[in-house]
Amino acid sequence: MKINIQKNKQLVKSVFVTIVGIGASLVAAAQQKQPAYLDVRKPVEERVENALSLMTTEEKVSLCYAQSKFSSKGVARLGIPEVWMDDGPHGIREEALWDEWSGANWTSDSCTAFPALTCLAASFNPQLSLLYGKSIGEEARYRNKTVLLGPGVNIYRTPLNGRNFEYMGEDPYLSSRMVVPYIQGVQSEGVAACVKHFALNNQEEWRGHINVNVSDRALYEIYLPAFKAAVQEGKAWSIMGSYNQFRGEHCCHNDLLLNQILKGDWKFDGVVISDWGGVHNTDQAVRNGLDLEMGTYTNGLTTKGNFPYSEYYLANPFLKGIKDGKYDLALLNDKARRILRLIFRTTMSVDRPFGRFVSPEHSEAARKIAQEGIVLLKNEKQFFPVPVGQFKKIAVIGENASRSLVIGGGSSSLKAAYEQSPLEGLIAKYGKDHIIYSLGYASGPSLYGREEPSKLNADSLMAAAIETARNADIVFFIGGLNKNHFQDCEGGDRQSLSLPFGQDKLIDALLKVNKNTAVVLLSGNAVSMPWINKVPAIMQGWYLGSEAGNALADVISGDVNPSGKLPFSFPKKLEDNAAHSYGKISYPGDSVNQYYKEDILVGYRWFDTKKITPQYAFGHGLSYTSFDLGTLTADKSVYSKEDVIKVKFTLKNTGSRSGAEVAQLYVQDPVCTVSRPVKELKAFEKVFLQPGETKTVEMNLKVADFAFYDEHKKDWNIEAGDFILQLGNSSDHISQKLKITIR
Ligand code: BGC
Repeated sequence: MKINIQKNKQLVKSVFVTIVGIGASLVAAAQQKQPAYLDVRKPVEERVENALSLMTTEEKVSLCYAQSKFSSKGVARLGIPEVWMDDGPHGIREEALWDEWSGANWTSDSCTAFPALTCLAASFNPQLSLLYGKSIGEEARYRNKTVLLGPGVNIYRTPLNGRNFEYMGEDPYLSSRMVVPYIQGVQSEGVAACVKHFALNNQEEWRGHINVNVSDRALYEIYLPAFKAAVQEGKAWSIMGSYNQFRGEHCCHNDLLLNQILKGDWKFDGVVISDWGGVHNTDQAVRNGLDLEMGTYTNGLTTKGNFPYSEYYLANPFLKGIKDGKYDLALLNDKARRILRLIFRTTMSVDRPFGRFVSPEHSEAARKIAQEGIVLLKNEKQFFPVPVGQFKKIAVIGENASRSLVIGGGSSSLKAAYEQSPLEGLIAKYGKDHIIYSLGYASGPSLYGREEPSKLNADSLMAAAIETARNADIVFFIGGLNKNHFQDCEGGDRQSLSLPFGQDKLIDALLKVNKNTAVVLLSGNAVSMPWINKVPAIMQGWYLGSEAGNALADVISGDVNPSGKLPFSFPKKLEDNAAHSYGKISYPGDSVNQYYKEDILVGYRWFDTKKITPQYAFGHGLSYTSFDLGTLTADKSVYSKEDVIKVKFTLKNTGSRSGAEVAQLYVQDPVCTVSRPVKELKAFEKVFLQPGETKTVEMNLKVADFAFYDEHKKDWNIEAGDFILQLGNSSDHISQKLKITIR
């Protein structure tokens, strides 16, 4: 049969044209019918309003409370997805059972454990914060989370606070600079950051009810700036109310904090999520700024309650109040609108990347952050670094060298894909023939809510460790705190500043048989150091996550030069710390109230102003090389209140190794009608330098940032006069001062 190719071609073409035509009109018809909220090209606000207009009152209310331990409803009928939340802030927490805290035993949810946020803060490197946020954001996205419950920016007020390791230290400027890129990184992955715990949750003792009384000045100058930066600069899509009370109202429904400051003054357009079990009252929850209620009837700790989710404060009682006309519909629309906005920004955004989980890049990021956060506190006679091959026998002693430090601590506990212990890292670095290990001391099993003593015999452990130390050329004692209850752990504060489990005694005993003993502390808090003058070297290693062993071994061996700086002061004794100098009413309170009597003098502001020498000052951290800060100059000597001061100086690496120094610029207002701290950090920069290299560093300081919060004016105020700019490499090591005048 002869085939007419030309004719057939035409036929095929016309069939194709017809199909395309039908297809196009079907698409057009579908598009015509498609409501605006599904049109990803439309602006989020238009989509939100459209979705809202299609929803019933019941559907709107159902957005405002949990449907399971970690999720809340979407609108299934409209294809609007559920909201899935997960801790945070150091890695993606394992899947939990629907209605309980316990893990669901999935096999696909073991994450990368990133270093604790204290370590990130100690890096003084906002670039690393962006890397951290992006990496953890990718992990959250891969695990299909809508909201990451972190980062935490409660100020380090007392070294006893069980959750300091989840936060970014004692300084509002440092934590502000570090929190912003973290949020940007997370949210670039289409996952909402949830900044916590707003606000004044500075201790775990009585966290569920303690009523914090603090001046407006301390509130605005110390406790709020990092949250404000998170909202206004980081553009956080959600924030978590804290458990405690502030001026008589629980913070999850606190009119001043949520309505007036957060949503009013700061124009926050995201979702206020309650801490789990932090809601206490329908009326306040409805009116005082809460949007999404989680974890009620569990007081944040216990398993499930007998109450169905529909009985949550923002569930049926809220719906009834609306139907009865008690609550204005506008209150509900505002909450629903915010929750929809969060969903459109995340799961319903067409720009949402796909994420990745436990990738080599994440391990690399975790290792880098850990390396840069480690702080060398003391280094007599250049004890560190200890190059590979220098010693035949290295004794490693201490429980923290071998135990897991990503497990425990409460809600930030992680099921990590892997965790390389310090011991494993040191063996990998120095070779197994050169490392001898002894436990030295032992903590007990960690049972939530209580601390159990170890069943191992402390005397025999110590005797064995002493023998190990005696036979070694050099000793690394690796101890500190852990994530057990009453250590660095949610739900309780530490009971004292001392190292637990007999470590002080053990360190003394080790020093008696081997003077070549250095102390490496893994903790999220300052500890007292009665042995400080006897040990040649001390390193602060934090909780370093999956790559702990590699990172520590990198720094100890000198493959990496330490560049971390303390994000909080170490007091010599507890009473030297500001919160503890005013007795129990200041910390922990009388169980009903507490008064922050130290006011604005938190951390180094206190030590400097009261002339108390800390054990180690805020901003302190040594290097294996040396640096020289050149003369500080400014572009002018007289400025107006609207000006930006441009300062300049050089920084030189005067040693023989490459390394990084953190130049820190503090400001003092010596004459003012209110008392002001001796210095306050206003700028810093981490500068990487090759041996002999010099770089010119420029910093821009807004004069407006020198203001204090004026309680009479109820606004920020800056009084004309002289100000002293102070440049140094720690808060107690200022090498340059420069006077400028503000008119
Ligand atoms: C903690 C929060 C955490 C939440 C969910 C609470 O107990 O305070 O930080 O995000 O539980 O696990």
